[in-house]
Amino acid sequence: MQQISSFEQYQQQYKHSVEKPEEFWAEVAGSFVWTKKWDTVLDWNFTEPKVKWFDGAQCNMSENCLDRHLETKANQTAIIWEPNNPNETFRSLTYKELYEEVCRFANALKKIGITRGDRVCIYLPMIPEAAIAMLACARVGAVHTVVFAGFSSSSLSDRINDCDCKLLITADAVYRGEKKIDLKKIADDALLQTPGIKNCIVYNHRDSPVLMMEGRDIWWTDAVKDCSAENVAEAMQAEDPLFILYTSGSTGKPKGILHTAAGYMVYVAYTFLNVFNYRDKEVFFCTADVGWVTGHSYLVYGPLLNGATTVMFEGIPNYPDHGRFWDVVDKHKVNIFYTAPTAIRSLETYGEAVFKSKDLSSLRVLGTVGEPINEEAWHWYHRNVGKENCPIVDTWWQTETGGVLISPIANVTPLKPAFATLPLPGVQPVLLNETGEEIHGNDVQGNLCIRFPWPGMARTIYGDHNRFHQTYFSTYKNYYFTGDGCRRDEDGYYRITGRVDDVINVSGHRIGTGEVEDAIDEHSLVIETAVVGYPHDIKGQGLYAFVICTGTITDEESLRKEIGKIVAEKIGAFARPDKIQIVAGLPKTRSGKIMRRILRKIAEGDTSNLGDTTTLLDPAVVEQIKAGAL
Ligand code: WTA
Repeated sequence: MQQISSFEQYQQQYKHSVEKPEEFWAEVAGSFVWTKKWDTVLDWNFTEPKVKWFDGAQCNMSENCLDRHLETKANQTAIIWEPNNPNETFRSLTYKELYEEVCRFANALKKIGITRGDRVCIYLPMIPEAAIAMLACARVGAVHTVVFAGFSSSSLSDRINDCDCKLLITADAVYRGEKKIDLKKIADDALLQTPGIKNCIVYNHRDSPVLMMEGRDIWWTDAVKDCSAENVAEAMQAEDPLFILYTSGSTGKPKGILHTAAGYMVYVAYTFLNVFNYRDKEVFFCTADVGWVTGHSYLVYGPLLNGATTVMFEGIPNYPDHGRFWDVVDKHKVNIFYTAPTAIRSLETYGEAVFKSKDLSSLRVLGTVGEPINEEAWHWYHRNVGKENCPIVDTWWQTETGGVLISPIANVTPLKPAFATLPLPGVQPVLLNETGEEIHGNDVQGNLCIRFPWPGMARTIYGDHNRFHQTYFSTYKNYYFTGDGCRRDEDGYYRITGRVDDVINVSGHRIGTGEVEDAIDEHSLVIETAVVGYPHDIKGQGLYAFVICTGTITDEESLRKEIGKIVAEKIGAFARPDKIQIVAGLPKTRSGKIMRRILRKIAEGDTSNLGDTTTLLDPAVVEQIKAGAL
């Protein structure tokens, strides 16, 4: 694969990718191992929608991540695992070792009856076994769905049932900082409600006591016992599903975003190599959890496809102290560091002290992802972490896009703080106004859409293609609608301004207001809830819940605690509201619709101009809410 090395070359490649997309992507795809080459490069329409890349081809992701590198990189480190507790020893796996572990586990999967197309749920902490399990699924053609280990048992069972998984892979327990999380116990609760699960493989990570259900639960070590370290990868059809990853939207339950074998592979490999300007033998550290799309694309698949060394960090940025990320960078001589703006803002509050005695000179490129980065945090990152020597790539993308769409290319694109800058080759962004017309020219703002397919895009929502169409392709006919607002400045540079729907980005975690409202409504005293986002200094956005209850509440504090607990149980602790205001009523129109615009203003603390309130059923409600605002 050719790496872009100058801005002129980027411009040429971009032009080529727009004029002759099929030629462009066929050339990129040429550097992979294909069991069979494609018949057609692209077949698409955005009306159904139907998108097929490299149709007729056969390939395997695991083979391209592992087998392909064995000749030249067998002894190079593939994964460096840094434990939660820095005093424990770290682990590294070479490409050869990773290959053997994956083959063994793939054989174990086959032995228990997992075959092509079966869905397998992975609920593991940040340990190499998470990557091994993903790669082994890909190897045998099973479709993995990784669930972030911060999700509760009911979120886990919902996901398992939605895509009808046969197998769950989990671990006994994990420490995050000083907190112990008993994953198997959470899994056991989930498995009470998952009739489709036949087996549960348990990795013994902490020697923590667990219950093993006879006939269902198997220790990882027993599963791989006697399994060969060789395995022939299944030749998958280009458009066979590779994985399902659940994400939140404006309404309803989380959506199982489905990515397919060939297009996703080609796209994440290409974007990893170029966005980060990855150079052979470099160490890449992405701080995202494997449970989110960033972990899939740029901790596991992108780096391994490029034969890189990827760091997997089990812990948290503030344990044992606030300098932990920099310890990891120093210890493993990290060259490329990729994190979320929320982590940067949080570390910023501890000042320069966190860098004392840390050698960050190995760093060459920095990246951010997940939410808009404010200029101040950008400069802090650039100055203190990058020592003004490292380009920052502000990468804009989504679970649905599979890989980065708009971002600087490190050392190539002239930077502008807080701007995702320009589209990558193959990506055709447009801004649309409320009535669906394209906004041309520069120094403009609108809703961000993409008008042409790229190989890494999601193909459907598992089991609900109609919802896929409705959510992404119906707001604007013949465009993929991202849900983000965006400004194109006078230089044609893109700056993402944030979601224009009811999705809230809390510390880079994507949360649907509807899901949180549903969870709060489960409290016996709650009648109705409206949740909105508000600007939060560290988290980017916080969650503000307005709640109507029955009767008179005498102890509001306890009620707030109980509500927070319900959200943690139903979704996960990360979705707990920051503020809960008990209100007598919600601002509704005469037709009963909640006017969220007004609630957002109140949550932001900006009540001077609430806009037009004449359509409200009872304007007095607004005054009451304003008076009690937190
Ligand atoms: C937001 C994460 C501004 C955006 C990869 C998007 C960003 C949502 C950026 C997707 C960025 C992601 N600048 N906003 N660089 N990157 N976002 O699916 O609102 O967890 O729609 O994927 O995060 O979140 P998701």
